[in-house]
Amino acid sequence: MTQAGVGLKIIGCGSATPTQILTNEQLSQIVDTSDEWITTRTGISQRRIADASQSLTSLAAKAAQAALSKAQISPEAIDLIILATSTTDDLFGSASKIQTLIGANRAVAFDLTAACSGFVFALNVAASFIRSGTYENILVIGADILSRWVDWSDRTSCILFGDGAGAVVCQATKQGDRFLACELYSDGCQNNCLNLSYQSESYPLVDSLEIGKGHFHPITMNGKEVYRFAIAKVPEVIEKVLFKANLKVEEIDWLLLHQANQRILDAVAEKLNIPPEKVISNLKKYGNTSAASIPLALDENIRLNKIKPGDVIVLAGFGAGLTWGAAIIQWGE
Ligand code: UT7
Repeated sequence: MTQAGVGLKIIGCGSATPTQILTNEQLSQIVDTSDEWITTRTGISQRRIADASQSLTSLAAKAAQAALSKAQISPEAIDLIILATSTTDDLFGSASKIQTLIGANRAVAFDLTAACSGFVFALNVAASFIRSGTYENILVIGADILSRWVDWSDRTSCILFGDGAGAVVCQATKQGDRFLACELYSDGCQNNCLNLSYQSESYPLVDSLEIGKGHFHPITMNGKEVYRFAIAKVPEVIEKVLFKANLKVEEIDWLLLHQANQRILDAVAEKLNIPPEKVISNLKKYGNTSAASIPLALDENIRLNKIKPGDVIVLAGFGAGLTWGAAIIQWGE
């Protein structure tokens, strides 16, 4: 809470996924893999894949509209839109286009990139704006279409990713802060473990002046290093947010980690002594949807009536950057 006593509550959640399904069986026709290998090593059975008619903007706007409708708030009431994504339709940003598509005419809109940690980072930015009294209603979207950036000949990474979008509406409240704690981290030393990078080549422009002209290369990943990083850093950051919020592990109702790999979810839960029934997992159906994975799973479990008002949820994102972070929210008003 700030001195003014303003806190944050989440008043609505929504999500959207493409209808096309890519199964492990189908993947084994593209690369040398098998349903058995993917299932046992990752827990993923299928993922959703956007077709050419879909865009990051259209998927994100659909999730945003669902969240607005659940929140029963008009788009004109939104003050700020933060789009967490690494796969924007436009390098200048896609948030403004979403603003127009959903009719949030008053809102300021910008993109935020922190890979698979993007949603947790964006939620923290929203909390800061709300607690400072700058904005009252903020739409936070996590959306990614990684299928467009995957190297479909690399069996060590292409099996992991899927497409999706999720969104929440955050609102200022003076009746108790529902954003209990948050911690964010970055470590550029391990930046080369997971990249979707621009590679430039020398291109003569005029006289002796040259520019670096090139293009983005597909995702490269050192899976083992990312795995090790996740199971070391995620439990640590969760312990930190629990300490900050003055909560014990037993007081957590749900552990909602970025949906990267079932083995990572299990290892983190085990380290923290959190029983499997409190661990939210939907990666079997969607794979790793990057910035979308947390709000997508949140929305699904709210619609299934599993997450109930008053429940304490620990969210944790981790991924490229390397970046990682955790937040504790309490569901409901
Ligand atoms: O948002 C963050 C995004 N990234 C991640 O979350 C990645 C985290 N890392 C992981 O999830 C795991 O490291 C992977 C799923 C990527 C790989 O699992 P692993 O248990 O670490 O496998 P590995 O890399 O140690 O490979 C074991 C074997 C190797 O064969 P050899 O050298 O033992 O003969 C690989 O060549 O499995 C082979 N392999 C495959 N075999 C069949 C690697 N990928 C595949 C595949 N199908 N798709």
